[in-house]
Amino acid sequence: MQEIVDRVMAEDEAAGIARRLLFPYLNHAATMFESGYATKDDIDAAMRFGCGYPIGPLDLIDALGARAVADGLAHLHDETDDQLHVPAPLLGRLAASESTFADEAAASATADSPVGHHAVGKVGVVGTGTMASGIVEVFAKAGHDVVYVGRTDEKAQAVQARIEKNLDRAIAKGKLDESGKSDVLDRLTAATEREALGDVDIVVEAIAEDLDVKLQLFSDLDRICKPGAILATTTSSLSIADCAEATSRPADVIGMHFFNPAPVMKLVEVVTADGTSREVADTVKSLCLDVGKHPVSCGDRAGFIVNALLFPYLNDAVTLHESGVPMGDIDEALKATRLPMGPFELLDVVGNDVSLAIQRTLVSAFGHPGWQPAASLEKVVAEGRLGRKTGEGFHTY
Ligand code: 3HC
Repeated sequence: MQEIVDRVMAEDEAAGIARRLLFPYLNHAATMFESGYATKDDIDAAMRFGCGYPIGPLDLIDALGARAVADGLAHLHDETDDQLHVPAPLLGRLAASESTFADEAAASATADSPVGHHAVGKVGVVGTGTMASGIVEVFAKAGHDVVYVGRTDEKAQAVQARIEKNLDRAIAKGKLDESGKSDVLDRLTAATEREALGDVDIVVEAIAEDLDVKLQLFSDLDRICKPGAILATTTSSLSIADCAEATSRPADVIGMHFFNPAPVMKLVEVVTADGTSREVADTVKSLCLDVGKHPVSCGDRAGFIVNALLFPYLNDAVTLHESGVPMGDIDEALKATRLPMGPFELLDVVGNDVSLAIQRTLVSAFGHPGWQPAASLEKVVAEGRLGRKTGEGFHTY
């Protein structure tokens, strides 16, 4: 921890780059906590388990000192005149009273007793992309029978091939044996018709981020799934309430936002709409723990916790590069603060098209002019340089 503090507060150019990108992100986390959108523990856990950060943003402010962060932001605001760089009111108060987010969270903590949950056995997944494959793998490895639905046999087979590749990698590392691999594969059933989801206890959908496509799906799930089945979406940008409205059972509809790569990242944001029942939320949180994931709770709002904090920071990195700072210097400066990937490396992993769509959603939901997508992000997407998946993005692969 002290090593991170020393690196962020150092006098050199790399630390200057890190502060330029991290302080607005920390300020946004402070604002999110102050608004009551999520608890301190959930905000910190979300960035640790969703993005592999060594420390959550509010803990990082406590480690750096609220005074240092507030002063750094005020200095940045003098340069940029961007309202997003005005220190959050709570940050200012903590700086003045030499207090911490940990104290603030302890003072505002309320007891939250679970209402109970029901058992989940068989799982359904809809979709065959990167996220869907990862989610199928998570549940099958944890011992659940999984039926997954793709649009064609070829797409469904590609899911099995991706999972086999990951299992083979685990075997090569001595973490799994052949019989463990066949146990996992035996739990998988591929289908091309949604009717195959009639007897599952929960469906997690990870299909295209298009509201009309999702609404059709939720109306199909409402018709097909048995009473009491939980209908979950891993959407990162659409409203859970909108999906719920397409069904006759909004109490059973919930968000389960997994992170990329899903088999590795431990976080699931459990997103409840106003109509989601407490029992469904508790059941999903308990299921997450059973499959080795860390659930955090948040409301039905654009970007949830992680994307709302992460993508403006990634966008700021692109803008900083446009001002003349080399990409490699930015990636290295952030990795020196122990982030697992530099911003340009991560943009290329997530996909620049996905990142641009998320950033646009955040701008339309929150309206901050400072979050407008950077011109070069628009440009790489227009040129088809989408990241690792196309062999080229900000970097070349
Ligand atoms: N599928 C399955 N397993 C994978 C994998 C994949 N695609 N990629 C890596 N792994 C496994 C490896 O096998 C290894 O497992 P092991 O320890 O059991 O052998 C483990 O992950 C670590 O991999 P490596 O040692 O090869 O690589 P790294 O140490 O560099 O870690 C990383 C890779 C975990 C991806 C790390 O770089 C990281 O945490 N990056 C941050 C990723 C991130 O921020 N994701 C969130 C993006 S935002 C999002 O998803 C939201 C959405 O709405 C867009």
